[in-house]
Amino acid sequence: MSRTIAPAKGKLGILMPGMGAVATTFMGGVEAIKKGLGQPVGSLTQLGTVRLGKRTDNRVPKIQDFVPLASLNQLVFGGWDIFEDSAYEAAANAKVFEPELLAKVKPALQKIKPMKAVFDRNYVKRLDGPHVKTHKTLAAKAEALMEDIAGFRKTNGLERAVMIWCGSTEVFTRPGKVHETLASFEKGLAKNDPNIAPSQIYAYAALKSGVPFANGAPNLTHDIPALLDLARDREIPVCGKDFKTGQTFMKTLLAPGLKSRMLGCSGWFSTNILGNRDGEVLEDPGSFKSKEETKLSVLDQIFQPNLYPELYKDLYHAVRINYYPPRGDAKEGWDNIDIFGWLGYPMQIKIDFLCRDSILAAPLVLDLVLFLDLAHRAGMKGIQEWLSFYFKAPMTAPGLYPEHDIFIQLMKLKNTLRWMRGEDMITHLGLEYYD
Ligand SMILES: NC(=O)c1ccc[n+]([C@@H]2O[C@H](COP(=O)([O-])OP(=O)(O)OC[C@H]3O[C@@H](n4cnc5c(N)ncnc54)[C@H](O)[C@@H]3O)[C@@H](O)[C@H]2O)c1
Repeated sequence: MSRTIAPAKGKLGILMPGMGAVATTFMGGVEAIKKGLGQPVGSLTQLGTVRLGKRTDNRVPKIQDFVPLASLNQLVFGGWDIFEDSAYEAAANAKVFEPELLAKVKPALQKIKPMKAVFDRNYVKRLDGPHVKTHKTLAAKAEALMEDIAGFRKTNGLERAVMIWCGSTEVFTRPGKVHETLASFEKGLAKNDPNIAPSQIYAYAALKSGVPFANGAPNLTHDIPALLDLARDREIPVCGKDFKTGQTFMKTLLAPGLKSRMLGCSGWFSTNILGNRDGEVLEDPGSFKSKEETKLSVLDQIFQPNLYPELYKDLYHAVRINYYPPRGDAKEGWDNIDIFGWLGYPMQIKIDFLCRDSILAAPLVLDLVLFLDLAHRAGMKGIQEWLSFYFKAPMTAPGLYPEHDIFIQLMKLKNTLRWMRGEDMITHLGLEYYD
């Protein structure tokens, strides 16, 4: 039976705390695509297909024709930042787009002005900016964010909205007492508890306003009982954390392949140079620790050393990020992988990925906001594990280990779409072709 899915009518607001390189590459990219200046490369919602039924049935619709997604023309952008720059100025600073392309989307981007941010330097030590809310309590700041959301909805005549954190990486924190229940969290807001991060206040404001929330950075944010309970109670879908774009994307392509052939791995050394503001923020050990945790967890989960000790129990895995201004957003990520085969004979693999961070992240932002909005209209609530495909550290129910293998993640995503529309799951058993 197919699920009831409300139609994607009217305008969909996309609210982004953090209007830096990723957010402006996403917004500018959508504007460029709408003008026919480029293709939405990297986006499953725009280019992907889903096979239905048997391989002999020839039913392979585009995903966007199979499930009711908002179209690019229905999207309206807004957000918050600690700097006053319009999306055009922020995009010009980020230097991701060629100046000629940027000039063509200037009129649309210039109109997008950030609202005043909720910011705390203790959470992002390398940044400071003037465009911030100065209310006395965190509770008053949360209220102000809710007013921003309501105002944005009203001014733009929105039908629905989705929020996605594209802000800087906050320092590493663990869940504490204040994060345990909604009551303790709200008490903490009123008392200015220092353990509540700005990103948590945005997530709280979104959920209280009935807005689905995604986290593109590795911060703890809404991965705490207080906010997950709120999401479930209000029947709002959420997902996170940390876009899987460059080096970790490569890892989740390669590691499952090595494991599928029962090849061993004794060392995986990853290092990066990047020169954008994200790289600068990650120079701070606290912010880097958040990133390191999500980057390191991937290999352990894929290789399962407890099940395959002879292949992976001694794996040495290290991740480094070096801020190197000359490269800007054009990151270079190196991997040295020490593997071993039959009788333990060693071999090496080297990867040198000369990537573009925000060019890889922008289509993920688009897919995530469209899919979260779809999930909301389909009545799905809480953690959306089927969106693990997009994240380095996919959120899961407590006690459940995350699935990192990208091909399993893709299968899960497409099976969820089939399930929504009442189509048969695809198991890849395929015996029927030989009966
Ligand atoms: N580009 C990628 O491939 C990629 C991959 C995974 C995760 N990420 C994460 O996405 C986030 C954005 O990356 P980016 O390259 O756009 O960084 P960026 O530094 O260009 O942009 C981040 C923006 O957030 C703003 N900001 C910081 N704290 C804020 C707050 N409390 N409220 C509102 N604005 C705030 C900053 O002023 C800045 O403009 C980072 O956390 C990054 O780690 C990016």
